[in-house]
Amino acid sequence: MDKKIWQNDISRRKFLGISAGVVSSFMFSNIFKPTHVGAAAGEDYKRIVVLTDVHVPSSKDKLKIAALQDINSWNDVDHVVVTGDLCHEVGDEKELKAAVELMSHCKKKRYVLTGNHDYLYSDGTNEGGKYQAGPKERAFKLERFRRYFNMNALYFSKDVGDYHLVYLSPDSLDTIHLTEMSVEQLAWLSADLEMNRDKPTIIFFHGSLEGTWDNNGRNWPKNPKFMAQPIDDVRDILKANPQVMIWVSGHLHLGVYNQSSCNEKIYTYDVNKVQNMHNPALLGTGYQRSDSDDGGAYPALWTRSLYLYSDRVEFRTYDHTNQKFLTDLDRAIKVTRR
Ligand SMILES: [Fe+2]
Repeated sequence: MDKKIWQNDISRRKFLGISAGVVSSFMFSNIFKPTHVGAAAGEDYKRIVVLTDVHVPSSKDKLKIAALQDINSWNDVDHVVVTGDLCHEVGDEKELKAAVELMSHCKKKRYVLTGNHDYLYSDGTNEGGKYQAGPKERAFKLERFRRYFNMNALYFSKDVGDYHLVYLSPDSLDTIHLTEMSVEQLAWLSADLEMNRDKPTIIFFHGSLEGTWDNNGRNWPKNPKFMAQPIDDVRDILKANPQVMIWVSGHLHLGVYNQSSCNEKIYTYDVNKVQNMHNPALLGTGYQRSDSDDGGAYPALWTRSLYLYSDRVEFRTYDHTNQKFLTDLDRAIKVTRR
């Protein structure tokens, strides 16, 4: 679909207009620190483990495999989702094969989505190092990524328990931004959300929502290249769909104690209070504090899990290096059905 046609599309306008008056059949609380977590006797839930920014190959691949083995040992996992950057740099065939081999250690059902390092850059380099590929090379890499990871599609949705889960991938062939959806994907997303309006919804995507990380130390928050793009369309779609409660992302390599990861005043989006759940890089390096420009090694490898209960979603963080949950980072959102 041509960008102009999407932006002027009558059905899209109509859709946005209709949705403005819709009253949801449920509501969400603000995120809070629960006094206790976990299932009550006989209570059912679905656990989803989030991995992101695995960046294979790297010197920590053995530790990443050990983390996957921890996840394999958890008997309550519904599935694992990887929100992009499986490949370390440019997503060439060598990196892709190494990433597929590493992920073969995951014995749980898993879904793999793209990040910028999986398709956006050319295999070649120039005097400035790596550079963004043209549309043909990007399209080739997207399709090869899908095929090697045996995915039916790079964007899709499914219902898990009482929730609607939407899995998205950066796939623009001509953007200069790092995490941008194609117009085809945006049209699909609008239609999918419109058809599933009555379900609390969680979206997985490599890039984070505009304004959900702070501006200490780095200029990323003001740089549109780092935001989930196109920002106006993402904003319009989320505004029209108040059933979307959580946006799960990676890309920024924020440590779990970075203020942007653990302070809800920062990670709450300014539309419908969507909670942007930032996730740490399984690469094991990134920004541990908001006010630093460190970008160095984390003290541990961490993953986050979402626990979907019929009346709440819990977020928990696991420290694979020290084999323990970081209970001070436990958070929850209540879902009240009317
Ligand atoms: Fe990354």
